[in-house]
Amino acid sequence: MDTETASVRTFKYGNNLEVKIELNDCISFLKSLKDESIDLIVTDPAYSGMNNKLKLGKGRIVGEYKQKGTENGKWFVEFEDSEENYHLFLQECKRVLKKDTGHIYIMFDSFSLLSLGHLMREYFDVKNIITWDKINMGMGHYFRRRHEYIIFATNGNNRKIRNRSFPDVWRFKRIHHSKYPTQKPVELFQAMIYASAEEGFTVCDPFLGSGSSAIAAIKNNCRFLGCDIASNAFTANVERIHHYLKTKEDIYQPKPCHIEGEPVFWE
Ligand SMILES: C[S@@+](CC[C@H](N)C(=O)[O-])C[C@H]1O[C@@H](n2cnc3c(N)ncnc32)[C@H](O)[C@@H]1O
Repeated sequence: MDTETASVRTFKYGNNLEVKIELNDCISFLKSLKDESIDLIVTDPAYSGMNNKLKLGKGRIVGEYKQKGTENGKWFVEFEDSEENYHLFLQECKRVLKKDTGHIYIMFDSFSLLSLGHLMREYFDVKNIITWDKINMGMGHYFRRRHEYIIFATNGNNRKIRNRSFPDVWRFKRIHHSKYPTQKPVELFQAMIYASAEEGFTVCDPFLGSGSSAIAAIKNNCRFLGCDIASNAFTANVERIHHYLKTKEDIYQPKPCHIEGEPVFWE
């Protein structure tokens, strides 16, 4: 049976599988998880660095959502991405991830890749940096941005990904006019989960946003645990996951983001 409190929601689905989402801060959420209880972390943190350093036009990058915003005029709070906080975050990711088999994917923009990405080597065995090619250009004064990065690492083990033929450039269209700011294509998380998880694995995302990672975990028949600090993210997840499990329709991403005619590696 599904369960519900003001800050935790659990959905049952499939063959004894569960999706559990929480309204919580990433560190206190991770601290509540047992050692080595997670098979795979896939996450897309809200970095403050890029937005603090790069001003575009009259506002900050997330400024366009100002009118919709709830917290200090912003849609969501950004994770204070000081090195100190990031160490805490990575320490907790390492502790909860299984040692023998755990894999982790963390997304970075160009700014945070240089300022924080290198810290991943202190905790994990970094195997590659994947480039997400968003196909269409975004904003930017010095070359308009068309990509983001994903660092892929293991928790010191040599567990392989599903297939050696997957490339390290992934082409999925960005979502225009998304319902949730910085909403990523479900396909992006599907690629991570398909490459690194088997059915029934436990996948975790401590920066849920709109919940694209949760939908991708369901599509891969995985258990899922996630949190977000923003109440509008929690509400969006409850609505999106509930509707998806009932109807198989994704109300936050009605159209696919993969390029027509181009094979995706989970098919
Ligand atoms: C870049 S967005 C994630 C977008 C998501 N991948 C998607 O596809 O919708 C980052 C999220 O991190 C959340 N966040 C910021 N600080 C946080 C914290 N300390 N703990 C947990 N979540 C946090 C924000 O509320 C935001 O929803």
